[in-house]
Amino acid sequence: MQTKSAIPATYTSHSPAWLALQQHQKKMSLQTMRQLFSEDANRFDRFHLKFNDILLDFSKNIINSDTVVLLHNLARERNVSQWIARLFAGEKINHTEDRAVLHTALRNQTDTVLLLDGENILHLIRQQLARMEEISDSIRQSRWLGASGKPITDVVNIGIGGSDLGPKMATEALRPYSQTHLGVHFVSNLDENHINDTLQKLNPETTLFIVSSKTFTTLETLTNAQTARDWVLENIEDPVLLAKHFLAVSSNKKAAIEFGIHPDNILDMWDWVGGRYSLWSTIGLPIAIAAGMDNFRAMLRGAHEVDLHFRTAPLEQNIPVIMALLGIWYINFFGATTQAILPYDEHMKSFPAYLQQADMESNGKYVDRNGQQVDYATGPVIFGEIGIKGQHAFYQLFHQGTHIVPADFLAPITDLHCIACHHRPLMANVFAQTEALMKGRTHDEAIHEMQQQGLSHEQIMQLLPYRIFPGNRPTNTLLFQTLDPKTLGSLVAMYEHKIFVQGIIWNINSFDQWGVELGKKLAKEIIDELQDDRPVTSHDSSTNNLINHYKRNRPK
Ligand code: F6P
Repeated sequence: MQTKSAIPATYTSHSPAWLALQQHQKKMSLQTMRQLFSEDANRFDRFHLKFNDILLDFSKNIINSDTVVLLHNLARERNVSQWIARLFAGEKINHTEDRAVLHTALRNQTDTVLLLDGENILHLIRQQLARMEEISDSIRQSRWLGASGKPITDVVNIGIGGSDLGPKMATEALRPYSQTHLGVHFVSNLDENHINDTLQKLNPETTLFIVSSKTFTTLETLTNAQTARDWVLENIEDPVLLAKHFLAVSSNKKAAIEFGIHPDNILDMWDWVGGRYSLWSTIGLPIAIAAGMDNFRAMLRGAHEVDLHFRTAPLEQNIPVIMALLGIWYINFFGATTQAILPYDEHMKSFPAYLQQADMESNGKYVDRNGQQVDYATGPVIFGEIGIKGQHAFYQLFHQGTHIVPADFLAPITDLHCIACHHRPLMANVFAQTEALMKGRTHDEAIHEMQQQGLSHEQIMQLLPYRIFPGNRPTNTLLFQTLDPKTLGSLVAMYEHKIFVQGIIWNINSFDQWGVELGKKLAKEIIDELQDDRPVTSHDSSTNNLINHYKRNRPK
């Protein structure tokens, strides 16, 4: 638990930096980005940052130089720099679980010693990386043989939450870097259709399962693992040969062994790595199998370089810090409740879902580090989609809805095949959308456009209100050269640190997840109640009736 001296100050929305921002917002809300751009020809120069080949343009936000100064004052008031130091030093900043938060150590490329409870964890990490390399190489080079002596053709990762979303997102993102003869699949849903649909396509003789669970207690994962084990056992004579088809990644070795995983087939992970921050650990094994260990290590390097930037760059030049502060600006001073993530790269299709867990499980908290209820809003609802698809689905609300939806646009400058007829129009859409969201369309512009289209005065007057776009909708644009492993690592690390900084400013613990416990506990109780057909009466009338309706109508 938190020691007395480590108890942070209680922050409220009445602190000097907060109040200054509130005052400033009143002024800024009277300005439009259109005006700000027209008054300042150098606005882009002022409001963009570069990191390696990643460009962050944040000029299309409702900010001026004063806003940035005031936001940084808030970061200083909340001791962001000190907290960054505490994170990297391995202090037990996850105070409700008494744990350090050291996912950054997993990608540390230096030769320093990082002691945690007297143990050099960099040594432990390197040992596990070596094991990952050995395993992934032997699978990729067809040296890992199934029970019948045939090489593995398909790997199925069974996990959920952080034990699924990160490896799945990165495996998809690095598809162009992957060896094609291996199929890498992900099963997470408890609905049997997920595992059944996956297994239908596969041959048990040549399929290897990774049971990926930090705790090795997760119902969804254990149920799927059980089904997979039965499927393999149907096809092998001697259960000892199961070891040829099952690996586990877990910090609970005992439970994995009890489940029947061979001790030599269990890779370690540690309680100081949060599930949603674990793709850098052995949980990333499917990434290494799909894309190769060199590419996995390149991803770690990309993240490590961002770690160095985050630790050392002044707050004003610090990309994760500015991303965090812009989020705070809209959530806490403009009342935004959402944040859209819009990648324009098909291989990033799971990036929004990945960030959804990373952000919402981290910052969806209403109690601060002192156990007090906060008097300000915290983490936003994160959602997103491949941008170009979103344009034809939900962007209408961005442009003309009544909500402010800050959005991040992400796009690679070079596509792998350089097909100009696809990539150029795609990029044109990125630029067009952020411009349209910023500028909108004025009354006069709408009239002029309709006149050009040859509409009559009457038609123009009738359509006019619908053809005006208010604009002033904030966006960030992240352009990067190409979605290679290193860049992917850097992008993910930027978002991780952004989430961290926001958690610090809100004075919440971004590294526990007590909120997911209650549903899990109730589900366990209800599972027992579903064992027979007797009506239940122990819940509220809605839950009782739903359960009883299900019991009456389920197949006997
Ligand atoms: O229920 C939420 C959660 O604990 C996540 O934080 C975690 O990523 C996921 O479940 C899976 O947990 P495990 O890896 O222990 O199976």
